[in-house]
Amino acid sequence: MDEDRRRPIRSHPPRCVEMQFLGQPDPDIGVCECAFRKRIPMCQNANQFPGLVLGTATFGVAPRSDDVPALVRGALERGITSFDTANSYGNQPEYDQPSVPSHRIRPSSEELLGRALRGIRDEVHLASKVGEPLGRSRVDGPFVGLLTRDHIVEQLDLSLRRLGTDRLDLYYAHLPDLHTPLDETVATFNDLITQGKIRAWGISNYSSAQTEQLMHVVSESGARPPATHQVRYSLAERDVEDSGVTAAAQKFDIPMLAYSPLAGGLLAGRGAIERAYVGHRRWGGGGFSDDQIGRARRFASLADDWGVTPSSLALAWLFRRPGVAGVVVGTSALSNLDDARRATAIDLDDEQLALLDALRFAEDRPGRSDAVDRQLSQR
Ligand SMILES: NC(=O)c1ccc[n+]([C@@H]2O[C@H](COP(=O)([O-])OP(=O)(O)OC[C@H]3O[C@@H](n4cnc5c(N)ncnc54)[C@H](OP(=O)(O)O)[C@@H]3O)[C@@H](O)[C@H]2O)c1
Repeated sequence: MDEDRRRPIRSHPPRCVEMQFLGQPDPDIGVCECAFRKRIPMCQNANQFPGLVLGTATFGVAPRSDDVPALVRGALERGITSFDTANSYGNQPEYDQPSVPSHRIRPSSEELLGRALRGIRDEVHLASKVGEPLGRSRVDGPFVGLLTRDHIVEQLDLSLRRLGTDRLDLYYAHLPDLHTPLDETVATFNDLITQGKIRAWGISNYSSAQTEQLMHVVSESGARPPATHQVRYSLAERDVEDSGVTAAAQKFDIPMLAYSPLAGGLLAGRGAIERAYVGHRRWGGGGFSDDQIGRARRFASLADDWGVTPSSLALAWLFRRPGVAGVVVGTSALSNLDDARRATAIDLDDEQLALLDALRFAEDRPGRSDAVDRQLSQR
C-alpha cells in the first residue's frame, strides 16, 4: 500500500466563517453544519433549501411504513429538515420486494411522509414532483402530457392532499415533457407560485439543451426561474459533467441538487454493494457490473486509508463539485444520516481528488432501466 494514501483526512474546524449557518455546531458530531465553503441556499425562504435532503423514493419499502415516523423524527433531530418526494414514489409495482407488502396495499411515499410530518409541517422544507408516468404506464408509456397545465394542477392537488398540507416549498418538473409546449409548463409553475400553492419550482433530469430552451422561455416570459436542477450525479455517475448539464446549470446560476449521490449504494461500502436490492434494482432495474463493483471496492479502500466511511467520502466529493448545492440521500437507517452529516466536514486536498478522479467508473451503467430512463429514452 502506498504510504501517501494513508494520511487521515482533514476536517473543517467546527465553525464556519464563510457561510450562513444551518444551525449551531453540533458538539456530538463536532462539525459545522453550514459546511461546503460555498454559497448554499438554506431553507428559510422561498427559493432556498438546505444542503442535506432526505430522499423518500423507497418509503414503505426501505424504510417500511411503520419505521417512517422514527426516521423522519431522527432526521429532524439531526438538523436535516428538507424532504424530497414525488407523486410517483413508494407504491409503484417495480418497487415491490418479496418480504414487503405489495404496492396494492402499501401507502405512497407522500402519504407516509405526510403522516410523519403531521403537526410539524411548518418546521420543514417539503419538495414533491410531477411528470413521471404512474402505474402501468411507467413501463409502456404513454410518456406524453405529463407536464401539461391540467396534469400539473391536478397532480399538485393530489400531492397536497396526500402530504396533508396546503403548499409545497418546492415543486419539480420530474422529467422534461417534449410533447407539451415549454411555455405552458413554465407558465403553470409560475402561476402556482403566484397562487401561493408552491413557493418555488425546480427541474429534474433536463439535458443541457433542454435547460437552455427552458431558460430562454423563462427569460422571454418573465416567469420565475427554477430554484434548482435535481440531477443524477455521483462519483460513479458523472454523465451530467460530460453532457454539459452541470455547465448549463452554472451558466444560468441554477443550484444543482445531486440525487442518488451514493449511486444507490454502490459507493456506500462493501456491505451495501452485496445486498439483494441495491442501485436501480430497488426500482425495477438491474444490478451493478463487475467493473463497477471493482472500482467501488477500490473506492472503499481509499476511504479506509483516509479514515472515513465510503458514503461520507462520496458525499464530500460531491459537495466539492462546482454548482452542487446539496445532495438527496436515501436511507432507512439513522446512523447513515450521521454519516451524511459527517461528510459536510470533510476536506479533500488536490491529491486526494486526483485519486478519486482516477477511479473513473465505466459509463455503460448496466441496470439503468428505471422509469426515469424509460421515459427519457422512449421519446
Ligand atoms: N429526480 C429524480 O429523477 C430522482 C431519481 C432517483 C432518486 N431521486 C431522489 O433521490 C433520493 C435518493 O436516491 P437513492 O436512494 O438512489 O440515493 P443513494 O443515497 O445514492 O442510495 C441510497 C442507498 O444507499 C444506502 N445507503 C445510504 N447511506 C448509506 C450508508 N451510510 N452506508 C451504507 N448504505 C447506505 C441505502 O441503504 P439503507 O436504506 O440501508 O440506508 C440505500 O439503499 C430518492 O429517495 C429520491 O428522493 C430522484
